[in-house]
Amino acid sequence: MSEIKVGIVGLGRLGKVHARNIAFKIPGAKLVAACSIMEAELQYAKEELKVSETFTSYKEMLEKADLDAVAIVSSSPCHCDQIEKALAKGLHVFTEKPLGVDVEECKKAEKAVEAHPDQVFFLGFMRRFDPSYSYAKKKIEEGAIGTPYMVKATGIDPEAAVEGAIKFAPTSGGLFIDMSSHDVDLIRWFLGSEVKEVYALGANFKHPEFLSCNDTETGAALFQLENGGIAELHVGRTAAHGYHIETEIVGTEGSIRISPVPEKNLAILYDRYGARQECVESFPERFDEAYLLEMQEFIQCIIEKKKPKLSVYDGTRATEICFAMKKSFEEKRLVKLGE
Ligand SMILES: NC(=O)c1ccc[n+]([C@@H]2O[C@H](COP(=O)([O-])OP(=O)(O)OC[C@H]3O[C@@H](n4cnc5c(N)ncnc54)[C@H](O)[C@@H]3O)[C@@H](O)[C@H]2O)c1
Repeated sequence: MSEIKVGIVGLGRLGKVHARNIAFKIPGAKLVAACSIMEAELQYAKEELKVSETFTSYKEMLEKADLDAVAIVSSSPCHCDQIEKALAKGLHVFTEKPLGVDVEECKKAEKAVEAHPDQVFFLGFMRRFDPSYSYAKKKIEEGAIGTPYMVKATGIDPEAAVEGAIKFAPTSGGLFIDMSSHDVDLIRWFLGSEVKEVYALGANFKHPEFLSCNDTETGAALFQLENGGIAELHVGRTAAHGYHIETEIVGTEGSIRISPVPEKNLAILYDRYGARQECVESFPERFDEAYLLEMQEFIQCIIEKKKPKLSVYDGTRATEICFAMKKSFEEKRLVKLGE
């Protein structure tokens, strides 16, 4: 295969990031088609990305464009159907998380992937590709902290973006569905075990608007894993200083902390407030490199005919755990996975 011809569906906040990477930054890949229900985004694809074929219908893109692969970055409820259609057409598939918006959908996606074992299916849990996270994983595998037995995860969106979160709250699925899947995936990955049970709580001190749609502004969850490991997650919408993603992995011989200060870079600003580090403000800024590395790996998997390390089952598992957290929060009790 010479160049991998990719079509992208979804050119919103994250779609544009992936589209630019495929179009300009990945040798061996070519962005040949784009699909969005927004005309302005298709105009962007033509003018800025030099994409020759644009479509408002995904079905039409699959029928008319000459493709080897698709990148699915559309709204979450579209993912499963678009995965099935692309696989049925013989294409390789990259899909953004979540795999599906409920467990039943995820199981359908599993069946579609199982029916096409020779096509690459790649799930976008990009934090695994972030250089700091992959370094931590490598150190753990080398035994640097002994046996890992606890993960403390923090994922808080900036207060500066809270208005959007409030607007989106009635349809987001709630904080635990909308915000927790990356951390849940990291907990399973770092501890090498499955979550057995979870207890989740919420608190609302700043934005009571979240309460009116049975959501919560801040959440906390405790997890018991099958191998005896434990994890805690603090997830929320109101970080005053920026976009705060922090992870600590504790082992029998030490621990590793990833970005306890979510610094923008290594510069220290000295001004009338003191000496300080500015913080990253958004997910595209924090995980810019991870989005590129994961898409490079997708293309490499196609070229070298290799299986990605992340599987469709990782997507189902994350969705199952997020729904267990939501149930625990709503019913105020410990929830066992699969109950
Ligand atoms: N991995 C991450 O860190 C991360 C971060 C943000 C978003 N996401 C995921 O990426 C996806 C997109 O998120 P976003 O923030 O870019 O959303 P967005 O609302 O900004 O963009 C959605 C895009 O999907 C397109 N779309 C919607 N329905 C469509 C349809 N039926 N056919 C064709 N196109 C359709 C829209 O035209 C738009 O281009 C979501 O699933 C989200 O969960 C992942």
